Amino acid sequence: MAIRDSATQITLSIAWKACICSLFFVTFRFLLCYNKKDTFLWKTENFFFLQGREKILYGEGIGMAKIIGIINQKGGVGKTTTAVNLSAFLAKHSRRVLIVDTDSQGNATSGLSMERRHFDPDIYDVMMGNALVEEAIVDTDMKRLFLLPASMNLAGAEIEMVGMENRETILKRILSQVRDKYDYIIIDCPPALGLMTLNVLTAADSVIIPIQAEFYALEGLSQLVKTIHAVTKNLNPDLDILGILLTMYDGRTNLSVQVRDEVTSYFGDTVFKTVIPRSVKLSEAPGFGQPITLYAPKSKGGVAYKKLSREVLKRVEK
Ligand SMILES: Nc1ncnc2c1ncn2[C@@H]1O[C@H](COP(=O)(O)OP(=O)(O)OP(=O)(O)O)[C@@H](O)[C@H]1O
Ligand SMILES: [Mg+2]
Repeated sequence: MAIRDSATQITLSIAWKACICSLFFVTFRFLLCYNKKDTFLWKTENFFFLQGREKILYGEGIGMAKIIGIINQKGGVGKTTTAVNLSAFLAKHSRRVLIVDTDSQGNATSGLSMERRHFDPDIYDVMMGNALVEEAIVDTDMKRLFLLPASMNLAGAEIEMVGMENRETILKRILSQVRDKYDYIIIDCPPALGLMTLNVLTAADSVIIPIQAEFYALEGLSQLVKTIHAVTKNLNPDLDILGILLTMYDGRTNLSVQVRDEVTSYFGDTVFKTVIPRSVKLSEAPGFGQPITLYAPKSKGGVAYKKLSREVLKRVEK
């Protein structure tokens, strides 16, 4: 009896000590977050008991990567900005994400890597069969976000690919080797409807089309839609349009509103409810080699891309 009582006492005292230690730990983490001007719940990775919160809210991911191309043959419409920041927020929502740069300008590559601007090997070496895709993929400053980088080398790749067998399925074959390691593979496209973009359309499950809310926004869109239909018929029957995204939107101007109405009347529900506003922080972030999640998550651009990432998760994982 006495032994049982003292065992209960010891267990109780250990439990009390554990409770007090946990309380100290939680208070300490709270003060740390508070000092860094983070909100209590927002920085979930700081709390062991909240680590699963994103997963509970947004699900567990899908295991075999969904491949999404960010495409528009028009230049400067926000493809790279969308590819980088959407990927970063998906990674924040506990998804493993690979961003693939298929543009010889290498903007997605430099936008995610301030320190290392030259990568060897890169996607060009992989596409030419001179390196394995696993050798070319690199980490970024963000947890769960990985990059298959590009460089100027890629500029000549289209000409070299012309002589290759099954040239429009090169990227598809490469990505199939790593598809089971990620939840999402996001591809940043060059501003052209050439062989590289055809490779992206053949490899992808779906595409997001960013449209800048400007006067010439819809120019070339019908050509793009025709190309997507042609690819659906001949090369990739499962390809669909995940969403049309209005970028650099300014609700105060009639033009932005007109473009939104016109795009919505043509594409209906395919248009994302989220619009990306003009945001200085979004244009500054690549200069620091950081996605908006690290540079200015609470800026209006950051908030918009966070909203977009939730909409994408809903559409893909519904
Ligand atoms: N919402 C935004 N607000 C302010 N600036 C933006 C926004 N989106 C993109 N930009 C800026 O506009 C320019 C073009 O954007 P981005 O590089 O993403 O377009 P792109 O379609 O990838 O261009 P390209 O066709 O040359 O690859 C960049 O300087 C970028 O920082
Ligand atoms: Mg770009």
